[in-house]
Amino acid sequence: MDEKWFPGHMMKAYRRMKENIKIVDILLEVRDARIPMTGTNTSFQKVKGNKETVLILNKEDLADPFITEQWIKYFDRVDIKAFAINSHSRESAGSFLKYLNILFENKRKDLLKRGRKDARLRVMVVGIPNVGKSSFINLLSRKGRVKVGKKAGLTRGEQWLKISDGIQLLDTPGVLPFSRKDETYWKLVVTGSVDRDKVDIFHVMEQFYSQFPDKKLWEGEKILSDFLFKKGKEYNYVISGGKIDLNRTAGRFLKDLETGKNGLKLTLELPGDFNGE
Ligand code: G4P
Repeated sequence: MDEKWFPGHMMKAYRRMKENIKIVDILLEVRDARIPMTGTNTSFQKVKGNKETVLILNKEDLADPFITEQWIKYFDRVDIKAFAINSHSRESAGSFLKYLNILFENKRKDLLKRGRKDARLRVMVVGIPNVGKSSFINLLSRKGRVKVGKKAGLTRGEQWLKISDGIQLLDTPGVLPFSRKDETYWKLVVTGSVDRDKVDIFHVMEQFYSQFPDKKLWEGEKILSDFLFKKGKEYNYVISGGKIDLNRTAGRFLKDLETGKNGLKLTLELPGDFNGE
């Protein structure tokens, strides 16, 4: 993993995550359902080794449901366990825990057979920033943050939470650095993993507009600046001389998209965009 650009505190947390991976049985990798492929760091595969992993396609409420179904089928075909979730929905938690218990029942029995005293599976959440790791942990542990188990292997401030009879979850998620490839960076800004204030917002908008030519989204406008002018008027972002504050307009437009405020359910990539499918 490219660690060079990592600030000190993140570096520490990242090293800690590598240590924690060693003491858990299963990893739950949270990705944004709108970017199931881009919303990870490919070097993470190396870090996790062959630790069993379930992909959590979070924020499914903001993604196109038909495309999420396609993604689940795609992951199934390539033998990756994936589950779509909305971390703001209690129902999601119930069905996910059921799924996890069934999926790993044999693994638990196996651990017991091999003499492990506590047959509760140890699970940990990882993911790039802002994909909903904390929300997901809160959702699973909503019934009460029941502390369980011994603290062996954990550092101060970390604890196990009992989320079902057979599963305990580390309350501290592992944070993965996102990939900084220019071709896909815009998707991380649109979905909120990269801070809008730290990027050239017009460059992001240009990439978004050219790589995601969705008529509904761009309201049929054939030129990006025409679209922004129209939106700016709609938001009433008029500045002196009757001009439109385009910077503020782009920021508001992206924020509404990130949080789903505009009511659109958009997925920014399809399984067919990858592996020549
Ligand atoms: P992180 O730990 O991975 O950094 O992410 P976190 O849980 O803090 O979530 C980041 C933002 O995404 C939060 O919004 C959170 O509410 C939102 N979020 C998480 N999961 C879902 C989901 O399944 N659906 C939707 N629609 N949103 C989700 P925020 O505006 O930053 O915070 P808040 O105002 O909600 O507290």
